[in-house]
Amino acid sequence: MARARNLPALVAHGGAGNAGPGKERPERRRGMMAAIRLGAGILRGNGSALEAVVATVAALEDHPLFNAGYGSLLNSEGNVEMDASVMYAEPVAVAASSGKRAHTHTADYSVSAGAVAAVSRVRNPIMLARAVMEHSPHILMAGPGAESFARKVGIRLVRPEEMVTERARERWRARKQQAGMLEAGAAARAAMGHGHGTVGAVAVDVNGAIAAATSTGGVPGKLFGRVGDSALIGAGTFAHAFGAASATGQGEAIILTALCREAVLALADATPQAVAREAIREMIDATGAEAGLILIDGRGRIGYAHNAASMQVARYDPAGGVQHLWLAPIATARRP
Ligand code: GLY
Repeated sequence: MARARNLPALVAHGGAGNAGPGKERPERRRGMMAAIRLGAGILRGNGSALEAVVATVAALEDHPLFNAGYGSLLNSEGNVEMDASVMYAEPVAVAASSGKRAHTHTADYSVSAGAVAAVSRVRNPIMLARAVMEHSPHILMAGPGAESFARKVGIRLVRPEEMVTERARERWRARKQQAGMLEAGAAARAAMGHGHGTVGAVAVDVNGAIAAATSTGGVPGKLFGRVGDSALIGAGTFAHAFGAASATGQGEAIILTALCREAVLALADATPQAVAREAIREMIDATGAEAGLILIDGRGRIGYAHNAASMQVARYDPAGGVQHLWLAPIATARRP
């Protein structure tokens, strides 16, 4: 019997955090729209959710105004260290026909994941995360070992300086002068809450496959060697038979609350929009931090929420086409 075809859908985020300079907002919007059009084109052509989220995130990594790939913030030593992850849940029948190896199964879905942490020498960390998923027995690889693996699978290594934009260098100098960020004191911790630009995407395709991808340069003021939620399956990225999620914001809070996994599992009982709002509320109650979340369920329904000053998303579905939104934050007070 032929499988029913799903309606494809895709949503991407460009990070939650401060609003950033007003003069950059039109270009940030253009960057989001170009990325979502790329992913939407893949889905319209019956491409996979995995292809769509990786292409969308890679386009944002290539854009210098997003804090991922080229454009990443610098760590306390003045260097780029990037994290990225991808997760893919494919209906078992589709996975069997593609012959791909999976990390785990539910009754109906075959699930795989890949991630990289603290890499400095690849232009598109999300592509390396995908290579870890598809060509290694592992899920998470870090630092020089991940870069050596990149070379083995044919991903070109660049000099670390090639990943540093003049904008990122200027911001690093200004922050260092202002906050004495090399000490992990109160000023450095406060500074960590004011970045933006982590990128992510979630999608469902015509075959009912579901994917999530996230990529970041981390938080401002981060120490050399710090790894955030975007490298961690379950924290910054998750995909499962119910749906997929990608997070942005203060990574330590997202890790503590296993934000993406909790949200995706909650899709069993509620719509993506209700789940996204409740997940951010619970994160606020638990940590008082700032974060944002995008979600999609297996029917292609979309949800998003954040409690930062600013967050932008772009979305595609066959009914609404391609759209861009600056999202208002939800109430930020901790509940008693
Ligand atoms: N959410 C990005 C990070 O904390 O690294």
